[in-house]
Amino acid sequence: GKSPTLDALLAQMTLEEKAGQLTLMPAAVDGRVATFNPAQPDASFQKQFADARAGRLTGLLNTPSLEAMRMFQDVATKQSRLRIPMMFGADVIHGYRTIFPVPLAEAASFDPSLAERTSRVAAIEAAASGLDWTYAPMVDVARDARWGRGVEGAGEDVLLSSDMAAARVRGFQGKSLKDNDAVLACPKHFAAYGGAEAGLDYSSVDVSERSLREVYLPPFKSAFDAGALSTMAAFNEIAGIPASANPWLLTDVLHKEWKFDGFVVSDWGSDVELIHHGFAADGRDAARLAILAGVDMSMSSALYITHLPSLVASGEVPMSRVDEAVRRILHVKAELGLFENPYRRLDPARAKTRVFIPAHRALAREAAQRSIVLLKNDGDLLPLSPQGKRVALIGPFAEGPHDLVGPWTVFGVDAEAVDLATGLRRVITDPARLSVVKGSDIEVPIPGGIDAAVAAAKNADVVLLAIGESQDMTGESHSRSQIVMPPAQQALAEAVAKTGKPIVVLLKTGRSLALEGAVLQAQAIVVTWFLGTETGPAIADVLFGAASPSARLPVSFPRSPGQEPYHYDHKSSGRPTTSEKYDPFRTNFIDTPNAARFPFGYGLTYGHIAYSGFIQSTPSITANGSIEVSAMITNTGTRPATEVVQLYTRKNPASVTQPVRKLKAYKRVDLKPGESKKVSFTIAAADLAFLDQKLQPTIEPGNYFVWIAPSAEHEGVSGQFTLTRTAQAAR
Ligand code: IFM
Repeated sequence: GKSPTLDALLAQMTLEEKAGQLTLMPAAVDGRVATFNPAQPDASFQKQFADARAGRLTGLLNTPSLEAMRMFQDVATKQSRLRIPMMFGADVIHGYRTIFPVPLAEAASFDPSLAERTSRVAAIEAAASGLDWTYAPMVDVARDARWGRGVEGAGEDVLLSSDMAAARVRGFQGKSLKDNDAVLACPKHFAAYGGAEAGLDYSSVDVSERSLREVYLPPFKSAFDAGALSTMAAFNEIAGIPASANPWLLTDVLHKEWKFDGFVVSDWGSDVELIHHGFAADGRDAARLAILAGVDMSMSSALYITHLPSLVASGEVPMSRVDEAVRRILHVKAELGLFENPYRRLDPARAKTRVFIPAHRALAREAAQRSIVLLKNDGDLLPLSPQGKRVALIGPFAEGPHDLVGPWTVFGVDAEAVDLATGLRRVITDPARLSVVKGSDIEVPIPGGIDAAVAAAKNADVVLLAIGESQDMTGESHSRSQIVMPPAQQALAEAVAKTGKPIVVLLKTGRSLALEGAVLQAQAIVVTWFLGTETGPAIADVLFGAASPSARLPVSFPRSPGQEPYHYDHKSSGRPTTSEKYDPFRTNFIDTPNAARFPFGYGLTYGHIAYSGFIQSTPSITANGSIEVSAMITNTGTRPATEVVQLYTRKNPASVTQPVRKLKAYKRVDLKPGESKKVSFTIAAADLAFLDQKLQPTIEPGNYFVWIAPSAEHEGVSGQFTLTRTAQAAR
């Protein structure tokens, strides 16, 4: 058992009370628009109070207010038989009320410490508002841009996803889970949810155990190593076995192999959905399959409270398995300090002083600046000078309280965020120098819109084109088959481009898009994602040079939607090609080159960066040795820059084929104009380990290639070394 006291508590519990500890329900009035009247809770709340009193509820998600949570906690800890505290959860994905950039955007910072800081603030606000638990971070590696939920994760790379996962867990959980400002993290969705066929949300996943272990599982392992004590079983099946009924995943890997010390919660109804998967006969069968596989807590379906008592009575589910699940959950409640003080996160005074405060908004602005990716800047069009030029801000995302906070915020609202036009007006104080025109709706043209936009462009020296996806075009259940600019906005861009005025595209998006025509041909392209509360000020900071762009793509932008799923760390085939032109009987499309339009890791600065002078400390290392590699990075430009220097390796040949490149490390390096820095990386032989033919980690002797480069598909500088079986060649 976890602790004698919890075991003593367990010994007193009835079977129904045990099933109650395994039952998480949405609050009777779910979420954001709740009209909860504490003086007179309606019948559905009365029923939930009765459940709490009877010990039939472990906690609630999406409870409308701190006051409501306090009332539930009163009932649970003062009126229920065993007085077990409830826990309160919600999705706090990229900020609670101060909204930070969407996680994909923050991943573009290539700076896990930034994600740790924003997650810390999200936790401070969430815990001050009554929450013990966030259903985050989303750590699903996503390699198909059609999949809408890629926006909640850290993109296509395993290392970056793993680093961001750990950073967010550290941020959410703080120094100790017992602290009043810590919230329990719940890395999700376990596992391989991002591997959905065709990028279609919830659809089936068929990946090998190798892909699971090499790609989809490492960010979870990283999150658990950082201390996360819960995880969420995914909606999807994996090769015929739904994740929420998968004993290999939820028990063998998670507990036996990784020694995970927390509990598994189902996704919303992912247990009852076993019926729709064609895996369970009915609700009772679904409950049996889920609990036996390792789902400890059922979210929202009430299957466990309904069926576990009879499943145990009939012997279909052993009491020991129920006890194990209860123990795990009580253990985490204890870790959260709830037994000592069930009200530690239910202090109304704290909510008033710790939520949406200036310091948090300042961090939102910094995070937004550092998430913006500069993809193109012909002739150094950017940064703009705040003096002199007349600016036309055109596009459906130019102005208005919409599409600012981005997908999946429960508590953040666009009305509290600063839009682009407002941000620009703070810099361009002369109204005669800034015109703002919508030009088009997001998906349909508006009458006269293009004419008005063209007229504004003609009267300006530079056009800012705020176009892209709405927040409803990305996120859960919002997959797109055509990952392109919505046609109405493409038409707007084409018409404005005909004026010949210089254009800066400000690309609103939650995924990589296949850009074409006038959008691709624009002099400057700035990926502005969904940046949250400080959207407008942060974009203005970058446009006018108060901040210098330093972020990099965490997902490759393809040339064509048909290249998806695309990821830089693909394998070579037996018939590779590097030709830009169609190369018959080779691995290429007849209608598009293979390379990404803008690859993973790509992004420009306001400096000009050159890579030279590759140096390696040794020609060969042994299995317990290491090598230092370095390059000279020079800013040949006239403005300061922060370069994200990336280290990639490949073993070739190898006993299991390896990706053409694999990210091993990255460093953010500040360079003044004209400055050169030697940037070094130490590669331990252990960093080169991969899974052998039996899926065991191996450090294999042989030939290794190494690149220090500005992106996954740019050359940079490179070298080669060998790993030897014996010590003789070591330095
Ligand atoms: O946390 C989410 C999950 O990501 C998708 N289904 C609902 C859960 C709770 O809101």
